[in-house]
Amino acid sequence: MCGIVGYVGHQAALPVVVEALRRMEYRGYDSSGVAVLDGSGSSRVEKKEGKLANLEASLDSAGHDSFPGTTGIGHTRWATHGRPSDRNAHPHVSGDVAIVHNGIIENFAPLRAELEAAGVELESDTDSEVAAHLLACEMASGPNAGDFVASCRAVLNRLEGAFTLVFSHAAHPDILVAARRSTPLVLGVGEGEMFLGSDVAAFIEHTREAVELGQDNVVVLRADGYEITDLAGEPTEGRPFHIDWDLAAAEKGGYDYFMLKEIAEQPKAVADTLLGHFQDGRIVLDEQRISDQDLRDIDKVFIVACGSAYHSGMVAKYAIEHWTRLPCEVEIASEFRYRDPVLDRSTLVVAISQSGETADTLEAVRHAKAQKARVLAVCNTNGSQIPREADAVLYTHAGPEIGVASTKAYLAQITANYLVGLALAQARGTKYPDEVAAEFRQLERMPEDIQRVVDSLDPVREIARELADSKSVLFLGRHVGYPTALEGALKLKELAYMHAEGFPAGELKHGPIALIEDGLPVFIVMPPVEGRGVLHSKLVSNIQEIRARGARTIVIAEEGDEVVRPLSDYFIPIPASTTLLQPLLATIPYQAFAAEVAAARGYDVDKPRNLAKSVTVE
Ligand code: F6R
Repeated sequence: MCGIVGYVGHQAALPVVVEALRRMEYRGYDSSGVAVLDGSGSSRVEKKEGKLANLEASLDSAGHDSFPGTTGIGHTRWATHGRPSDRNAHPHVSGDVAIVHNGIIENFAPLRAELEAAGVELESDTDSEVAAHLLACEMASGPNAGDFVASCRAVLNRLEGAFTLVFSHAAHPDILVAARRSTPLVLGVGEGEMFLGSDVAAFIEHTREAVELGQDNVVVLRADGYEITDLAGEPTEGRPFHIDWDLAAAEKGGYDYFMLKEIAEQPKAVADTLLGHFQDGRIVLDEQRISDQDLRDIDKVFIVACGSAYHSGMVAKYAIEHWTRLPCEVEIASEFRYRDPVLDRSTLVVAISQSGETADTLEAVRHAKAQKARVLAVCNTNGSQIPREADAVLYTHAGPEIGVASTKAYLAQITANYLVGLALAQARGTKYPDEVAAEFRQLERMPEDIQRVVDSLDPVREIARELADSKSVLFLGRHVGYPTALEGALKLKELAYMHAEGFPAGELKHGPIALIEDGLPVFIVMPPVEGRGVLHSKLVSNIQEIRARGARTIVIAEEGDEVVRPLSDYFIPIPASTTLLQPLLATIPYQAFAAEVAAARGYDVDKPRNLAKSVTVE
């Protein structure tokens, strides 16, 4: 997830573009860059690793006067391919062409090989740079030579994956060409000036008239107007709309809190995490500095992580053991290294971390490596320390998570952990290729169901407002419903400062049932109806036990689960799924519940007290 901006108009482009980048920085902040076209055939590019402040400092020292021109593009990056660095920052340049990109060009490897074979030297490790060189080649020779817009279309037609791209060409300083597929791009329409942004916050201080671009739309922008076509060049229309949000709301996409926006982004976080990881019938990781043979020789898996990431690992244990027949232990990272775990070169340690900087997890990784274990990182932050030190990496593509409480990164972690499980099963041969493919296809279908849950959270919010004064809340589940219960309790503790505990439902009668008293809210996740067998009926018994003692039951269950509906004081339906995939759906009501209770109690949902987004001390 990166931030994209563009400007064609009558003002000096540089300050407009830099201000727009400031508004887009929440979308990525590991590097940023600008290109300004001076109107007489040249352009000037500046890009810098790190926060936008680094770019601003270097623009200040170069002097803003050295970036004349009224057309410009800008980018703030959230690294996917290639770690954060000046070299990998956008814009990417090829001769007179400069481009900025958000998304993942899935077929970049063959395109890169083709360019290299033609003698083009690529400077970065990104998937994006190929688009700049392809455009320069199109402009130089072939059927579209010299025609900027037709050349852009020809390049776009060759790209697979997800992209928002903005193309500029120094010899065509009055035009920007942009396109989108599965990633956002909005057009801002001003008086004699046009804007591009990943969202409206990029230009809201200049104009409130905007146009939403459709899938595979290409827009040609001039100061006095725009034309939208499809990829074949046939005219089409965008959706014009008026922006009535204020600036703060615009940055949050109209949501009251980043966390609510991030809950809504979960279908995309899961879809993006899967993108590009199934190629030629095989699961592929992002970086693998460990041989296939070593992967086959693994005889034990440890998952280490903290907080929500730890819960995502607990979910993964069920899948990894089931698919690979390898023993899999899940351990809180801060406990792991101090208890002398049995590790050797046949042990795979999977370190899960959204930030990639969590000190407890990093130290666990170092301990594992010192014992010669192999380390695979599941991480949301490209170029951070944990993936740097790991032998293999799988990135989650949740984009930056601003709310301190993890939501979209958590669902993306579960998704990536499952890919790790499938990669291991594939390497060890415990699953046939068609079984791996079938599991992957099921994962691919999840974003649709996740969207359905996201779209039906209003009743959950109502329940939250009703229960906001509770002193204590319990969460129960079995199998993958148990880590889901722990995650539900953690969300409520950290956001609403409310006593909350998660238990395996079967453990209740061994002690915690003493906590049940009249009116105590108890959340329960029911296993799927499909093949429900023993687990389902055992949970029904657990519900009966707590109802008999006066608890109020809030049950998350499949839409068609009529057995449990009469036993529920509140019933929250979710779509049917397999047992292993259910946490991708059942966790979402817990996130919404915690956020709403926190808001009802008057707390800051995005910044709960005493917490930090990334915990870099042990
Ligand atoms: C809870 C939460 C934390 C993190 C934990 C690990 O909502 O966000 O529990 O999951 O601090 O952080 P990362 O994944 O960055 O290592």
